Amino acid sequence: MLDINWKDLSFSFMETNGMFVAHYKDGQWNQGEIVKDSYINISVASTSLHYGQQCFEGMKAYRTKDDRILLFRPTENARRMRESAQRLMMAEVPEELFIRGVKETVRANQEYVPPYGMGGTLYLRPLLIGVGHNLGVRPSSEYLFCVFCSPVGAYFKGGLAPVNFVTTDYDRAAPNGTGKAKAGGNYAGSLLPHQEAVDAGYADAIYLDPATHTKIEEVGAANFFGITKDGKFITPISPSILGSITKYSLLQVAEDIGLEAVEDDVYIDKLDDFVEAGACGTAAVISPIGSITHKGKKTVFFSETEVGPKTKELYERLTGIQFGDVEDIHGWTEEV
Ligand SMILES: Cc1ncc(COP(=O)(O)O)c(C=O)c1O
Repeated sequence: MLDINWKDLSFSFMETNGMFVAHYKDGQWNQGEIVKDSYINISVASTSLHYGQQCFEGMKAYRTKDDRILLFRPTENARRMRESAQRLMMAEVPEELFIRGVKETVRANQEYVPPYGMGGTLYLRPLLIGVGHNLGVRPSSEYLFCVFCSPVGAYFKGGLAPVNFVTTDYDRAAPNGTGKAKAGGNYAGSLLPHQEAVDAGYADAIYLDPATHTKIEEVGAANFFGITKDGKFITPISPSILGSITKYSLLQVAEDIGLEAVEDDVYIDKLDDFVEAGACGTAAVISPIGSITHKGKKTVFFSETEVGPKTKELYERLTGIQFGDVEDIHGWTEEV
């Protein structure tokens, strides 16, 4: 039995039984295998270390009431990693290898999938990096695909609660840059805006579109959604945001609960249109947004202390599907 206090788990790295590692060389991937290690040995001249030739994914395994283990839309993560790889000129990880790597990692670490009922999950981190001896700025001919995992706790320990955000003048991505790819460099650039937002008393920074600074792009490392008085669920459309799998799922769930769901521009000076708002992503599923402060003006949505009814319904439906409590009518979950 593992000596883990499941109730107090945070979002941090924990040693587990091992990770999946596959190697691409001479134009092909090997089979890959589970290695009982949390270190990799790579050339100091790897393109991932110098030129940022790397990308990753974030996903979770969920334990159900009847003790099954579910993945949520894993083929969508596989697709997004292939798209990130294309943008960064890296060897693509075939869907079969991606899914097998994820499932083998979960199977090798079954006892680390938190018990049902506490909101905890096994976080999975697929990672693709350029390796090998390289010097010039050009794509590597060698890659590693790894999947490691760590048990993580519920994002909101005391239940869903609203948080406050502030817009930043920094850009997360260029208009035709790498914002759509899950590339590590996008996250290095987000650390300073995040810290400045936290220092000013907010949960995170909201990025506006880099070309005009008039529309919402991302809420920290999550997508935005707003719900209007007349029952419209709106989430930004932009070539420089990361296509959130949670957001595409919420667009569908919003329709399922009778909202009109659309991707559209969300202007920062039109926030009064929304009666509820949230940030969405794998980590928290939904972080209800209590308020957004832009150029000193604060817009409060439903409440700074209470969660709006539609936000709550969306959250409960989607997490219900992920943990196997709500019927999966769209066939989104896959048993390990
Ligand atoms: C920049 C950014 N936007 C949005 C998301 C949400 O994406 P997903 O719902 O696929 O986790 C993430 C990852 O969690 C992210 O890093």
